Amino acid sequence: MAIRDIIKYPSKVLKVKAKPVSVVGDEEKALIKDMWDTMYFTKGIGLAAPQIGVSKRIAVINVTGDKKDELVVINPEIVKRSGRCDIEEGCLSVAGVNAHIDRYKNITLKYLDISGQVRKLQASDILAIVIQHELDHLNGMLFIDRINSLKRKLLMWRSKVGVKSSQRRRKI
Ligand code: NI
Repeated sequence: MAIRDIIKYPSKVLKVKAKPVSVVGDEEKALIKDMWDTMYFTKGIGLAAPQIGVSKRIAVINVTGDKKDELVVINPEIVKRSGRCDIEEGCLSVAGVNAHIDRYKNITLKYLDISGQVRKLQASDILAIVIQHELDHLNGMLFIDRINSLKRKLLMWRSKVGVKSSQRRRKI
């Protein structure tokens, strides 16, 4: 078990487009294990590899906390999208900031699972949102990049002066 440090905004690695994984080998499997340990330890519901400083297209997701809902996505790609929705998102890499982000409500995701098999998954609502948040991380984008700069400045200021944010926030 290895809990890794979460890379925080404004670190540069969070702005880099992560590299596709060609083979899911021992190194990737060990990384994924550390990602689970780190995500559960920090009480997140999703974590992308760049958030622990590894620029690979891998994310782990569990929106319920139940073992059976664990999802590992490697080289994820959204192939279908429809509808709109939003929740108040937070991010393990951006302390104290929460914001409603406009996302697709329904997506179809193509990805490799941990055994390297190509999979397709249809996801809606919170699961679809978390997947989109993680895909942003893999593309070097943070959720705060999706809000206008004035609102972003206000949110960052509020987090610095310690204005209490919603308890319902989900750290992704
Ligand atoms: Ni995040």
